[in-house]
Amino acid sequence: MSHKVLIINGDGIGPEIIEEATKVIKVLNDKHSLGLEFDQAMLGGEAIDATGKPFPDETLEKALASDAILFGSVGGPKWDKVDSAIRPEKGLLAIRSSLGLFANLRPAILYPQLVDASSLRPEVVSGLDILIVRELTGGIYFGQPRGIRILENGEREGFNSYVYRESEINRIGKVAFDLAMKRGKKVCSVDKSNVLEVTELWRELMDEVAKDYPEAELSHMYVDNAAMQLVREPKQFDVIVTGNMFGDILSDQAAMLTGSIGMLPSASLDENSKGLYEPCHGSAPDIAGQNKANPLATILSVAMMFRYSLDLGEVADEIERAVSGVLDQGYRTVDILTQGYIEVGTKEMGDAVTAQLK
Ligand code: IPM
Ligand code: MG
Repeated sequence: MSHKVLIINGDGIGPEIIEEATKVIKVLNDKHSLGLEFDQAMLGGEAIDATGKPFPDETLEKALASDAILFGSVGGPKWDKVDSAIRPEKGLLAIRSSLGLFANLRPAILYPQLVDASSLRPEVVSGLDILIVRELTGGIYFGQPRGIRILENGEREGFNSYVYRESEINRIGKVAFDLAMKRGKKVCSVDKSNVLEVTELWRELMDEVAKDYPEAELSHMYVDNAAMQLVREPKQFDVIVTGNMFGDILSDQAAMLTGSIGMLPSASLDENSKGLYEPCHGSAPDIAGQNKANPLATILSVAMMFRYSLDLGEVADEIERAVSGVLDQGYRTVDILTQGYIEVGTKEMGDAVTAQLK
């Protein structure tokens, strides 16, 4: 049965990095006669410009009809002044929510070749392999009510609601434990249960979920401490499970341990492992169109796509080996460049990966 892959460029460096990632998919599609079918759609700023909406109906239809979605990034100064209801970021949140992509997997793996690119000392980060499991369709990102209101004294007040239902906490907990069982069997649940009731419930339910996984070890950590531990002794973590906003923040932080956020892929999965795959970094408008962006996070997202949605784990391994191979060859985009290596642009990095695969 042939799989349908929907490709969404997005804004900023999106088109450049997606082009390189698409080359990788197409090389593998031909090499292994995978029979993948491709379609294209718009999201974010590009969609606002073309249709007035960050998440056009046509994109939703195409997304529903696909098995996996490969996506670049959204946003940029051009759309900073548009109404907050139709900002580019709203398009990304809407596609995650309407497809039920509640489980966001963000692996922070340090390639041994990049140990010098990390801002932390080699002995602190070498061998690092953390998986952050971020809840993606609930929490304060989606809670109602929300808005900016005018108080009686005329002062404005902004407000958001931090809410999680039992079912939402349980299902992300299961995802985290299932994944932990395939690796280090350790789950650290991150919350702020000393202050926020919603995460008091989170902590209680994680303890419940853990009972179904007697071989796994569950620990709990407050988010402020987790932020500190991530830079103090990051290798203590195996799988981290946390809510939407804490996961957003901690995954950026974890990314930097690996040398560059330009190396960090992600998968956002629904109940049936249909997924949206995107690099964790943003649209980087400051370097857009300059052939400077690191395409490896997007290429590694393609590997995750093969592994989780297309059930082709060997193809995923092949991509990850190719990435490791180009790092061995000494190729570095500017974000991971250290002394003595060969500086290359977005396109040259993509070409180097495809050359390894051929
Ligand atoms: C991410 C991004 C998004 C988020 C933004 C662009 C809405 O920061 O995927 O981490 O906050 O989820
Ligand atoms: Mg983020």
